Amino acid sequence: MKPPRLTVIIPREEIDRAVRQLAAIMSEQFSGKEPHFLVVMNGAFIFAADFLRAFQPECTISFIDVKSYSGINKGELQINTTFPDVRNRHVIVVEDIVDSGETLAKLLSVLHELNTASVTSIALLNKQVPHVADADMYALEVPNVFVVGYGLDMDGRYRNLPDICQLELSL
Ligand code: IMP
Ligand code: MG
Repeated sequence: MKPPRLTVIIPREEIDRAVRQLAAIMSEQFSGKEPHFLVVMNGAFIFAADFLRAFQPECTISFIDVKSYSGINKGELQINTTFPDVRNRHVIVVEDIVDSGETLAKLLSVLHELNTASVTSIALLNKQVPHVADADMYALEVPNVFVVGYGLDMDGRYRNLPDICQLELSL
């Protein structure tokens, strides 16, 4: 098998602009509310690091472990996490990408049992396919292709690429 083909579809400068813009909007919206960010690992780690450093209000942050992919094929959804105490807190879920929306739907249903003050979700990327659940805000849009880089992986690889790239397997 030949190595996969990687094509930059969103360059780093554009990601940076979009992430800062989203952080500015959210900073205004959550000023004085001390939100709690729940960062969905592993894919959202670089997005979260950049977004949160541009987010101005006081906040708390924790990380939850959810996995649903094996290679480029979707597998069983696993939530390997004990949720922190988020009673009466304004919770903001931070996701890398919303594809089918099943991960987000599952997370939102779990969170709705936890007596939060509110639940908001943001994602770096909106994949242009129908979703069963939608994030409240997205930084960027991508077409219906498999993407890697800026935290997103295929089998643990390519998370360190600074740009968002389309990955195509060549047989
Ligand atoms: P969903 O449940 O189908 O919305 O998929 C959500 C999760 O699948 C995301 O949080 C990603 O970790 C992963 N995922 C979906 N599409 C891609 C992709 O194009 N590249 C890398 N990971 C993806
Ligand atoms: Mg992933």
